[in-house]
Amino acid sequence: MKILETECLVIGGGPGGYTAAFYAADHNIKTTLIERYPRLGGVCLNVGCIPSKALLHLAALKEETKELETIGIGSKDFKINLAKTRTHKGNIVQKLTGGLNQLAKARKVNVINGVATFIDANNVLVKENNEETRIVFNQAIIAAGSRPIIPKSLALNTDRVMTSTGALDLKDIPEKLLVIGGGIIGMEMGYVYASFGSAVTMVEALPHIGTGIDRDVFTPLERKLKRLFKSIQPNTTVSKITQKGNKIIATFTPNEPKSAADNSSHSSQNTTAEFDRVLVSVGRRANSDLLDLEKAMVHTDDHGFIKVDNQLRTNVSNIYAIGDIVGNPMLAHKASREAHIAVEALMGKKTTFDNIVIPNVIYTDPEVAWAGMTEAEVKEQNIPYKTGVFPWAASGRALAIGKTAGTTKIIFHSETERLLGVAMCGTGAGELIAEAVLAIEMGAVVSDITETIHAHPTLSETFLEAAEAGHGLSTHYFSRKR
Ligand code: FAD
Ligand code: NAI
Repeated sequence: MKILETECLVIGGGPGGYTAAFYAADHNIKTTLIERYPRLGGVCLNVGCIPSKALLHLAALKEETKELETIGIGSKDFKINLAKTRTHKGNIVQKLTGGLNQLAKARKVNVINGVATFIDANNVLVKENNEETRIVFNQAIIAAGSRPIIPKSLALNTDRVMTSTGALDLKDIPEKLLVIGGGIIGMEMGYVYASFGSAVTMVEALPHIGTGIDRDVFTPLERKLKRLFKSIQPNTTVSKITQKGNKIIATFTPNEPKSAADNSSHSSQNTTAEFDRVLVSVGRRANSDLLDLEKAMVHTDDHGFIKVDNQLRTNVSNIYAIGDIVGNPMLAHKASREAHIAVEALMGKKTTFDNIVIPNVIYTDPEVAWAGMTEAEVKEQNIPYKTGVFPWAASGRALAIGKTAGTTKIIFHSETERLLGVAMCGTGAGELIAEAVLAIEMGAVVSDITETIHAHPTLSETFLEAAEAGHGLSTHYFSRKR
């Protein structure tokens, strides 16, 4: 068996792992990065953020052609060449992941392909094909990510039942697609397939899709999805799926309504329906069970997330963990921020994960983006607050580009006027939220926004006007409530 020594060992080559490895190497730390797949980039670059956004961009273009026809440009006869679409997506992924290998090389990060498992708190075993290497490390950062949850009742041995990875392969455009789970993956991939022509049925166990998102702001997207999808069935669980030839038969079980309001169309009967493909998007679980963590005495919580402190250090002092494997939100930008903190901590710097907010974005069109507290959370915590809301129908820029389906909302402390949360729905909301994130991190108050000059005509003015609306003084939106 080969034996290697390293100062810093990183397990997992996703946005958490490669960021940590690069940052450590940039600080002249001898670094080894282990990744089980031939390509760096993890879920995000290979089967997550990047390929899904490539397809969502095409889907948004497709949707736009429908709108263009109404103003006299283009035609609805928009054809999709699936083979070309797959190549386009593959080229983007290839370019980005290939770039990572070059960046690793330039920094002299030793990248090893293989599956790592712990031997103890200073050694891992890396297996690739029949070769085994023992790596002795001083410090380790675990960034081994997560994988989709597939409940037993939905586990069927056929590629007609897909996780997000299978859905991104885009083998065909199924006539009827069932999406189980109305979370982010369900909405994004459902949007892609519905735009490309599938009749999408979405079922969600809870009373609403997009649980946890501010309802005022989510409404424009919800309306769009209701138009685009064949049906959205909340309060419903798929209790069984079976295969009959090329079809999947799903049994829908209605959940008990939680309130009288949910009861309007409640039926207690199971129903069945036939689909060509099924996407299971009911959440993801940590990969902590694949690492023999117990041999290094590293502890996990009841959900399988590795327990860490605010420096991302585990209960074992020379072992850190970052990214999806330490818990929600499972987002690439959270993983890469944690990577920096962990590397700084292992260098002995006084650093801590003290970010106030982590932005979330749903990359449909319209996009939904939010940062900080929602109105429901503020209410629940009895924080005195006010809101400012600006509808995009009153934005000159939104009108000029035909993108009026949108809302920008701010939530602020009614005494200190400090921003507590911002949520936006509309085209490009994912880009616009960056200003709100910076404002919250800098402790901005409402007048910091109203006194900042925003270029005209831009969609960024919707943030300015929402702040003005918070004072009852929005220029382009008059509300009697002021
Ligand atoms: P991962 O990216 O999962 O990387 C972990 C790596 O570790 C993997 O490459 C894995 O092969 C490797 N590994 C695991 N075990 C071992 C082992 N024992 N030995 C060696 N290697 C191992 N997030 C966003 O912020 N924005 C988005 O738009 C977005 N879109 C998404 C779309 C989809 C369809 C999915 C599924 C996810 C999306 N995410 C998005 C989430 C994002 O992909 C994850 O939050 C992010 O990849 C987490 O990074 P990570 O480094 O923690 O783990
Ligand atoms: P999710 O947790 O966002 O949503 C899962 C949904 O499925 C929930 O609404 C849940 O109530 C529902 N559900 C659970 N069990 C069910 C059942 N048996 N029947 C019907 N509904 C059921 O998980 P999802 O969509 O799989 O995404 C996983 C993670 O990936 C996200 O939490 C996010 O962190 C990350 N992601 C981020 C993206 C982004 O930032 N744009 C895009 C895609 C994924």
